[in-house]
Amino acid sequence: MYNSRISRRDFLKSAGALAAASCLPVSMVELAFAERHKNFTFAYISDSHIQHITGTKFVRNWDRGLIRAVAETNLLVPKPDFVVFGGDLAQLGKKEELDHGAEMLAKLSYKVYCVMGEHDYYLDLGEHWSRLYGPHYYSWDHKGVHFVTLDSILTYDKWTYERWPTAEQRMLEMAGLDNPNGSPFMVGKKQRDWLRKDLDRVKKDTPIVVFSHSPIQKIYKGWNFWTEDAEEVQALLKRFNDVTVIYGHVHQVQYNQIGNISFHAVMATAWPWPYPQSYAQAKSHLPKLTVPMNRADPFFERDATGWQFIDMESGRVKMVYNLYDNTNRTVAFNPKTGHSEDTMFQSPAQRISPQTHY
Ligand SMILES: [Fe+2]
Ligand SMILES: [Fe+2]
Repeated sequence: MYNSRISRRDFLKSAGALAAASCLPVSMVELAFAERHKNFTFAYISDSHIQHITGTKFVRNWDRGLIRAVAETNLLVPKPDFVVFGGDLAQLGKKEELDHGAEMLAKLSYKVYCVMGEHDYYLDLGEHWSRLYGPHYYSWDHKGVHFVTLDSILTYDKWTYERWPTAEQRMLEMAGLDNPNGSPFMVGKKQRDWLRKDLDRVKKDTPIVVFSHSPIQKIYKGWNFWTEDAEEVQALLKRFNDVTVIYGHVHQVQYNQIGNISFHAVMATAWPWPYPQSYAQAKSHLPKLTVPMNRADPFFERDATGWQFIDMESGRVKMVYNLYDNTNRTVAFNPKTGHSEDTMFQSPAQRISPQTHY
């Protein structure tokens, strides 16, 4: 990784220059297993929410977010081994949106692994998405790491199949952030049974990286920052030494440690969600470890969207969040404390004050 023509620092600099021209969120994932000589990288792009207006018109800002992410990912040196798209490619699950998003993702020079988001699913229950990307959950091995992609945005059958008179209404009800008519996400028994069997053949010391759309942990139910059967899925991952779950959906920096599992959220290319605790009525379950991002600058359309580098050191993730026009963040597993920490800002004394805009 580091003997290439351009170091990561150089890349960050050039990417910063690119970002100054127009900005874009990409997650760059770096897996470094020094003792096993299996270093490699992959990139992570998420939550583009491509939204159709009419005819050939789409919401410009969300288009720009994804176009920029793809362009930057294609410029990465050294080249990532693959790219993961973390879900919510579309805004309302329409064929036009999925096709338009897929067209943009097709410009990537790498293999792409896709995660199902609720915005991709609840119009036609993943039918068109499947035509583009195949199965909704799957696993693969790459250079000594076992990767699992879960479909974590399923919910109760009654809600999905009986409650709503039209598919369009079902989609709209699930698309709202704080809609009380929504329903909690879940992986579900069928997929958990599949996961159990899938992991049966994996050795205890093989690093596991799981991609999901919703967090496989319970953060804030009111906004569906939540997976109803999170504990059951965590239990299936418990016997492994090194497990990381990377998720989209929350559009913000979050990290957590539950037992052997490190959790990391990635930012969106479309927009940042606020933190639940920024609303007085929302009792936040934001993980105690997480030092939140600064409040997004409303005068800068790409602020609080961003891209990330992720290193796996000894099988654990070190994630570098690159926030445009803002202070970068690095969240890494600290073997001394046994959990992920912000390498600069974890200590309250080190934190920078939020920006003032007025
Ligand atoms: Fe999203
Ligand atoms: Fe989502």
